[in-house]
Amino acid sequence: MNKEINQEMIEVSIPHRAEYVSLIRLTVASIANSMGFDIEDIEDIKVALSEACSNAIMHGGCDVGDNFLVQFMMEKASLTISVSDFGKGYDKNSIQEPKPGELNEGGLGIFIIKSLMDDVHIDTGSSQGTSIKMIKNLREES
Ligand SMILES: Nc1ncnc2c1ncn2[C@@H]1O[C@H](COP(=O)(O)OP(=O)(O)O)[C@@H](O)[C@H]1O
Ligand SMILES: [Mg+2]
Repeated sequence: MNKEINQEMIEVSIPHRAEYVSLIRLTVASIANSMGFDIEDIEDIKVALSEACSNAIMHGGCDVGDNFLVQFMMEKASLTISVSDFGKGYDKNSIQEPKPGELNEGGLGIFIIKSLMDDVHIDTGSSQGTSIKMIKNLREES
């Protein structure tokens, strides 16, 4: 990102199909790399974004042709990624923290996202769909 610019945004509209997750992983790797994130952070961001996109594809689907949106907000010290679908939403209170020893294959995506990103906000409702916003801060150079 140009040093003179404080904020820049890229937005991508994606069909609800799993094959497009790899495209979005490549896109975010390129964006994060250009912002100066290290390899470890780039891997974390890719995993978190893949989980959010998988949720939009698997749970947030609606009519054919109705894409979901991924927005990348690049700032000097952070990358904020929003994944928004226009599906049926869900009840956030119904999602329970996984207990050690009771781990199932499913039901971990949101916890993985929260553990890998610095800040996560979810807005969801039956009339608005779901929007998950996740922020990763650039580490201070030492
Ligand atoms: N975008 C979404 N739209 C509707 N429901 C969602 C969405 N994202 C998550 N959910 C709900 O939250 C639950 C937990 O999501 P997650 O932690 O990723 O686990 P999993 O996807 O393996 O079920 C999902 O099973 C689904 O019911
Ligand atoms: Mg999931």
